[in-house]
Amino acid sequence: MTTSTSGTDETAVASYAPSAEFAAQANAGADLYAAAENDRLGFWAEQARRLHWHTPFTEVLDWSDAPVAKWFADGELNVAYNCVDRHVLDGHGDQVAIHWEGEPGDSRDVTYSDLLADVSQAANTLTELGLASGDRVAIYMPMIPEAIVSMLACARLGLTHSVVFAGFSATALRSRIDDAEAKLVITTDGQWRRGKPAPIKDTVDEAVDGAAGSAFENAAASVEHVLVVKRTDSEVSWTDGRDLWWHETVAKASKTHEAQPFPAEHPLFILYTSGTTGKPKGIIHTSGGYLTQTSYTHHNVFDHKAGKDVYWCTADIGWVTGHSYIVYGPLSNRATQVVYEGTPNSPDEHRHWNVIEKYKVSIYYTSPTLVRTFMKWGKEIPEAHDLSSIRLLGSVGEPINPEAWRWFRDVVGGGTAPIVDTWWQTETGAIMISPLPGVTSTKPGSAMTPLPGICAKIVDDDAKPLGNGGNGYLVLDEPWPAMLRGIWGDMDRYKDTYWSRYAEEGWYFAGDGAKYDEDGALWVLGRVDDVMNVSGHRISTSEVESALVTHHSVAEAAVVGAADDTTGQGIVAFVILRAGEENTGDALIAELKAQVSKEISPIARPREISIVPELPKTRSGKIMRRLLRDVAEGRELGDVSTLVDPKVFEAIKKGR
Ligand code: WT7
Repeated sequence: MTTSTSGTDETAVASYAPSAEFAAQANAGADLYAAAENDRLGFWAEQARRLHWHTPFTEVLDWSDAPVAKWFADGELNVAYNCVDRHVLDGHGDQVAIHWEGEPGDSRDVTYSDLLADVSQAANTLTELGLASGDRVAIYMPMIPEAIVSMLACARLGLTHSVVFAGFSATALRSRIDDAEAKLVITTDGQWRRGKPAPIKDTVDEAVDGAAGSAFENAAASVEHVLVVKRTDSEVSWTDGRDLWWHETVAKASKTHEAQPFPAEHPLFILYTSGTTGKPKGIIHTSGGYLTQTSYTHHNVFDHKAGKDVYWCTADIGWVTGHSYIVYGPLSNRATQVVYEGTPNSPDEHRHWNVIEKYKVSIYYTSPTLVRTFMKWGKEIPEAHDLSSIRLLGSVGEPINPEAWRWFRDVVGGGTAPIVDTWWQTETGAIMISPLPGVTSTKPGSAMTPLPGICAKIVDDDAKPLGNGGNGYLVLDEPWPAMLRGIWGDMDRYKDTYWSRYAEEGWYFAGDGAKYDEDGALWVLGRVDDVMNVSGHRISTSEVESALVTHHSVAEAAVVGAADDTTGQGIVAFVILRAGEENTGDALIAELKAQVSKEISPIARPREISIVPELPKTRSGKIMRRLLRDVAEGRELGDVSTLVDPKVFEAIKKGR
């Protein structure tokens, strides 16, 4: 099997045992594993009781309609009530929920009482706009408090939100609006990026209006309103009747609103993620099980103490990490958290450390890519700051190489902070495999063990479980509360993508390669499908290929993820030009890169594009990506015996 990975070659490393001091105060104890082992469903029922249920559930799991699970199905709750109201009712209204830090240097503290007033106002406005339970709302916003308020207002009303990362193009936004038939789009006039305002509303207009000659000729049929928060005070064009300002509607609405309960299986959100085909999948998550597991994991994996810790997850709400570990997990646990709008080097590379010092951040959850970027910038930068408030570090998105892991612990964590390397996916909804701080001895680079209540196996092609040492596929062999409930509008694709590989066994196929080392620690080795992982973002090779062939000069494209020291993988493309098209070299390559940015997003922009005369194909016409990856990574070619014409590589190498 092929895996792409960085730095998992040193599994025979010493492990870091938790300090007695940390263990003594930790939320989690070894007893959690025993409790879950003893009675898994009873364990989850107990975790679900962390939440407030308007109607208590009597049933834990219904798997009779597998692979679509129902968790706590006869229970009713309101997700927003759990994240906001109950903390205010419990007397914590004055506690800061969000220390918000704007990129240009403005900041705002939002208490739980403020959040309740804001969410109530937004809920009242959305109701006035005629939105009702089950309707879909697209959210296309930078990291400002109103983005979180919008998500919670949807949750409060039983509206299903679809957050689209604000870096995505108009084309990507439009296809997501259409797929979910969103009635409302919530957005901003612009966003701050590296000290300058960048347009956002313009992109929404382009997506919603469509235009002759563009990918979408007509206006989006489903969209009735566009609700706009003023953030950069930029000039925007306006469609009367459709467009509304937040400050003229939400900010003037009543601050009281009573949350109604919804069934546990009510859809909470759709989040699009890349699969192996060009069309993104709308992953569906529901309410009770999702909130149970995000709450449980946030409490135990991050050892979070309400009212004491200051928590910071550096993700964007456009990704699942932002949904689960900025919005739902932390707020359900009454966290005080930092939300930062901008890039880590604006105005300079000290920004994160300044923020940590300013708010005395104690729990810091980020990605390996960012850690490697910090390493590149130099340790003198974090060392110039007092980071002594930090007591726990987290990593997510891709395997963290041992060198980055040690640097993170030594330079940012004062040589003592435990690191939780958390493996999970958009589809799993919440953390699945991770150390428990205070319990697990950790090895740099290993996600260690499935959490209490979670079942995982590493198996070969024939579903045979592998012992220590063997590389195989990661499967989840029992349903879990935060699992996806399907792909929006395409249940066949849901079954096919995740459940057909091990259909007989009824296991979920995660798409990752993994192994247990000689001590039984679990190492996730990277994707085994045609999905790349660039800076922790999932991008499919065929999505980028489709974007490239929309350029008039391109006849065919093949894309691979090649190892990259900073971003984990970098996108490398090989294109063949149409007959008669001139190869203008750098000019054409620049055009093609811009094309991908425009079609998908700047995050999908290839690192390298080679214009080549031919692509390596098997006799059945399949492009041999494995060999292209060898070329891209400068390796000797692997087995070329199945190729139609092994000589194509001489031509390909000349093209680079
Ligand atoms: C894929 C899921 C989970 C939120 C962010 C990404 C990779 C994620 C780890 C980790 C090794 C990891 C996997 C997974 N991945 N976390 N700790 N160690 N690999 O969510 O976009 O749905 O991507 O990210 O390959 O399948 P996503």
